[in-house]
Amino acid sequence: MKTVLSGIRPTGNLHLGNYYGAIINFLKMQEENKCYFFIADWHSLTTHPDPKMLHENTKNVLAEYLACGLDPEKATIYVQSDIPEIAELYLLLNMHAYLGELEKTVSFKDKARKQPNNVNAGLLTYPVLMATDILIHNPDYVPVGKDQEQHLEMTRNFANRFNHKYGVEYFKQPTAYIQSKELTKIPGLDGSGKMGKSEGNCIYLIDEPKIIEKKVKKALTDNGPEGINTPKPDYIENLFTLMKVVSTPDVLAYYEDLWNRGETRWYGNMKKQLAEDIIKVTSPIREKINEIKADSAYLHKVTKEGAEKARESAGKTLKDVREIMGFKPF
Ligand code: TRP
Repeated sequence: MKTVLSGIRPTGNLHLGNYYGAIINFLKMQEENKCYFFIADWHSLTTHPDPKMLHENTKNVLAEYLACGLDPEKATIYVQSDIPEIAELYLLLNMHAYLGELEKTVSFKDKARKQPNNVNAGLLTYPVLMATDILIHNPDYVPVGKDQEQHLEMTRNFANRFNHKYGVEYFKQPTAYIQSKELTKIPGLDGSGKMGKSEGNCIYLIDEPKIIEKKVKKALTDNGPEGINTPKPDYIENLFTLMKVVSTPDVLAYYEDLWNRGETRWYGNMKKQLAEDIIKVTSPIREKINEIKADSAYLHKVTKEGAEKARESAGKTLKDVREIMGFKPF
């Protein structure tokens, strides 16, 4: 069995793009692998979040992922700041990370440009903390988006350097599991190819049905096909792509046929149907999110048991690393 690890930043709510992207993948992975999923709350400190907000955001993502089906019985689900072993290993690994390589990291240069008055040491060593998150469980695979590939490359460098420096074969070289290639990309309703937070075109899992209806109604369309069997413009293709994901094949075929026959005046109906089918997918999840968020005892139990499991594995790694580096009990 392979070990898989993924960190989730506690920012914003989950949308349909996240659901049919990363999350469906996580659900499959937890069936077949030993999985660690954690909320990377220490990582958000680089921007000095308001403490109340930080707590609220952590609770939110946790509730949303659990509502989607991440299962504490199958995977180890925990909050990073509950695992003090990560902080200690981070200290140790920081001694083998060099200013030059950290300054060259794309994410560091980006952030330093965006927040010139807050270029803190945590920002600089963000890749070391991420490497620590990973190496502390020595996983085989780390599912990451394209933007995190460099961090994973650095993790492999740190792992290698450690092994080499101390003459051991201790850390594995974790492999990136690039998500984008294999997954359904959910388009935006504004004609853009991707649903995303920064694009501002999201349907969120917690959106009430009324909001979803409104958002779908506003989706970009035109006057209809200009003939028989004409190619669809991107923004119309997007509606069909969404329908392919949430609707039944016969519903999809019905609208495909209208398009191919060159009929007009059916976009309104199609949007109504699409909204209805999206709501069918999201409603049970939305209800579950609200249920979990109101259940402090459950959240307490999940995070407590998750932390216990994670600390067991993290503690083993830390004990080994201490010994390898020369910290031994007298
Ligand atoms: N840096 C990742 C992101 O911004 C989140 C993250 C933190 C992470 N630690 C990790 C991802 C470890 C994978 C493994 O999305």
